[in-house]
Amino acid sequence: MLPSKLPQVGTTIFTVMSKMASDHGAINLSQGFPSFNCYPFLMDLVNQYMRDGYNQYAPMSGVPILKQRIAEKTLISFGLSIDPEKEVTVVSGATEAIFSAVTAVVCPGDEVILLEPSYDSYAPAVELSGGIPVYVPLSLPDFSVDWDRVSAAITEKTRLIMVNTPHNPCGYVWTKEDLDNLASLIQDRDIYVVSDEVYEYITFDGRPHLPLMSHPLLRERTFTCGSFGKTFHVTGWKIGYCIAPPVLTEAFRKIHQFVTFSTATPLQYALAEFLMEPSRYESLSDFYQQKRDLFCGGLKKTAFEFTPAQGSFFQLVSYGHLSQASDYALSVKMCQEVGVACIPVSVFYHDKQDHKLLRFCFAKDDELLEKALGLLQGLDWSRLG
Ligand SMILES: Cc1ncc(COP(=O)(O)O)c(C=O)c1O
Repeated sequence: MLPSKLPQVGTTIFTVMSKMASDHGAINLSQGFPSFNCYPFLMDLVNQYMRDGYNQYAPMSGVPILKQRIAEKTLISFGLSIDPEKEVTVVSGATEAIFSAVTAVVCPGDEVILLEPSYDSYAPAVELSGGIPVYVPLSLPDFSVDWDRVSAAITEKTRLIMVNTPHNPCGYVWTKEDLDNLASLIQDRDIYVVSDEVYEYITFDGRPHLPLMSHPLLRERTFTCGSFGKTFHVTGWKIGYCIAPPVLTEAFRKIHQFVTFSTATPLQYALAEFLMEPSRYESLSDFYQQKRDLFCGGLKKTAFEFTPAQGSFFQLVSYGHLSQASDYALSVKMCQEVGVACIPVSVFYHDKQDHKLLRFCFAKDDELLEKALGLLQGLDWSRLG
């Protein structure tokens, strides 16, 4: 038998639940992808660049015009000036950015702080580099960061901290105070940051997204990972970017060039042209806030308890007052018997802590959301419990 380098890793819950949803004809609010199509103009652009012959390898760090447009959008959206050639790398999805950044920094025996619940690709990336994940729980009920616990988790061996804002699955959005607290904890230490900001354009109720690199000290230490998949409804294209200071970008590219080398050329040119109109990304919060409000409005007529998400396209609900079933068992029942697929939040904890929480993705057509809400409103807890 081939010994596994990731013995505890099986098929991801997202694959399991999406398959179960399709097998049972359930509405799939589990995996984080839109049910609607991207802008037709964006597809036309890809088509046009393919026909015009942009079909061979792109430069390793990305086509210059796309790197420039990423720098422009960073200035427009966040007032941050970055050097497109020295600080931006185009990658095959944020997953690759996270993996390459972690691999660039972590050496065997290094400790990496992961705030839990956390996205499932972080810990395997750390472990494949011989790093040791150190898990720090976020504070319920709002999943804010407990800075005393983070401080207590830092040792001489801490090399990296993984951040995700807006947060999947909890929707928490980092505040200025969070940035200041992180900066003061790492300022006198050799600690870097990988900041997963794939939902940077999805925040609600006027709450701003604060990129970690908007803090002068964090700017020097942070690899920022972004995803066009989330921003332009094209998760299947797997294209994103990493922004980091020149020295970190150099280290990042050394890894990136041997992971994928480069990313699909016609997609890069198409996205560069599409990015010329800022309203295409600046309007995303309003677009998703309407969906969050629709979903939360319907949830109010169910027995679930919840606080509307601050950002991302996920909504958590709590059911501990209704049933003591495990979140995993309940998710399976909801999919098979109610006809709505969701994700049990325990899968985002290394030790599968069960806080009786479910995650729903509301990046779906309104009709689909309404249909799902109808089913959730009709839930018979005496049967499910
Ligand atoms: C928090 C977070 N990070 C990274 C990713 C992966 O992004 P990409 O599809 O661009 O690799 C996802 C996708 O669901 C995510 O939710």
